[in-house]
Amino acid sequence: MMVRKVRYVLAGCVVAGVFALAGVGGASDIGPTVKQSCSRCHTTKRICLNLGVKSDTAWKATVARMVEKGAQLPAGQIDAAAGYLTGLAPGGGTVCE
Ligand code: HEC
Repeated sequence: MMVRKVRYVLAGCVVAGVFALAGVGGASDIGPTVKQSCSRCHTTKRICLNLGVKSDTAWKATVARMVEKGAQLPAGQIDAAAGYLTGLAPGGGTVCE
């Protein structure tokens, strides 16, 4: 009985740790990823012109449309990329450098 309980606790820790790592990495590293995958067909000027203009919903729609066209974003990163773009000030961020 005791051993089983300990095992569950340990498994819980491992799962929480993996999620914590994924969260930190995903949020801070998406800038270069967005810049790379979004500058394949057009310059990032197209994106920079829309910073501070598009809402989060609008960015989600745009990013999803670009992924349909062939933009290579890691699976499940559409929301993260859209959130990142929504949070940037006009002309700001790695994307516009
Ligand atoms: C496979 C080629 C391709 C890739 C990769 C790509 N785009 Fe585009 N993008 C296009 C084309 C073609 C247009 C013009 C036609 C249109 O708007 O659908 C466009 C237009 C745009 C526009 C202007 C139109 C609008 O809706 O505001 C923005 C902003 C944009 N792209 C953002 C992005 C972002 C962000 C990424 C990365 C997730 C990206 N693009 C990756 C092909 C691409």
